Amino acid sequence: MSVIGVLTAGGDCPGLNAVIRGIVARAEERDGEVLGIKNGWEGLMQGQTVSLDRDAVRGILTRGGTILGTSRMDPYVHGDGYASCERTIKANGIDSLIVIGGDGTLRSALKLSEEGLPVIGVPKTIDNDICGTDMTFGFDTAVGIATEAIDRLATTAESHNRVIVVEVMGRTKGWIATYAGIAGGADAIIVPEFEYDIDDIVDTLRQRHRKGIKYSIVVVAEGVKPPPGYEPAEHKKDAFGFDRLGGVGYLVAAAIEDRTGFEARVSVLGHVQRGGTPSAFDRVLATRLGVAASDRAIDGESGVMVALRSMKIESVPLSEAVDSIRGVPEELFRTASTFFG
Ligand code: F6P
Repeated sequence: MSVIGVLTAGGDCPGLNAVIRGIVARAEERDGEVLGIKNGWEGLMQGQTVSLDRDAVRGILTRGGTILGTSRMDPYVHGDGYASCERTIKANGIDSLIVIGGDGTLRSALKLSEEGLPVIGVPKTIDNDICGTDMTFGFDTAVGIATEAIDRLATTAESHNRVIVVEVMGRTKGWIATYAGIAGGADAIIVPEFEYDIDDIVDTLRQRHRKGIKYSIVVVAEGVKPPPGYEPAEHKKDAFGFDRLGGVGYLVAAAIEDRTGFEARVSVLGHVQRGGTPSAFDRVLATRLGVAASDRAIDGESGVMVALRSMKIESVPLSEAVDSIRGVPEELFRTASTFFG
């Protein structure tokens, strides 16, 4: 009987539980066994495990978060790679490991597979920035939440003749900002991939005012550079050493208000985009990825990630997935910018 270990690492994401459920259900159908590893890589290094069968995953399809817990620990940052995980793997007879995670997690998954452990990756992030897959689960849910927020903010902005800057997640790439901005009819969108000039944005808002439209919605990804002359506060670091982002929207709003005199308010959506139940699209995608990952693990594949490609689930080399971080294509951003102003 094949024993599959499964862990969720990095930031959580709606749909993680649906993936776990898919892995367990398919494994049970094929007489495999699944061992949940708690708290991401930390649990693998420290031997924190829980046995998962079909009954253990009933009712979790619709639940946000991850029943396994997650952490920002990493075996190559906080340990010696495979050597730090070997005890748990041997003690539990784990034949292969399914790793559900984002860019950093998949990078470590690739390294472990290169050290000889059979590993299957499942791409996860609300940021939608992983190469080799058309989309990541969690993204659709996050875009839905951000779009609803924009819709709500637009009506109050209009009532009060205000500019509202909506800050969404997106550390290095602006997928959520671009999609939610298009879906919510944003008057300007600022993303890390493309340089922006705050004076161009101000011109756009002034033009709206001249036409008698005295409110505007500006969507900003959290990872953009602040306008020149507006210094960000020192960010605290997470366990990976990355900046804990959040707040650039205030600097963009200040620059707009200082230049125009228009009242500019800010709404930072933050973790609300990552919490709660996944959308139907994400439930289906996550389920398909979980089932496919289970199949790949039982079939003895390794060093690959299951991915959505042209509506099909395919295996992609992990090396391709971590090659770079996937940004918003220019053509898509141009579509968004057609509606600015
Ligand atoms: O999952 C990726 C992400 O959503 C980034 O967009 C964001 O910067 C980060 O997570 C925040 O993570 P944390 O939960 O550690 O604050």
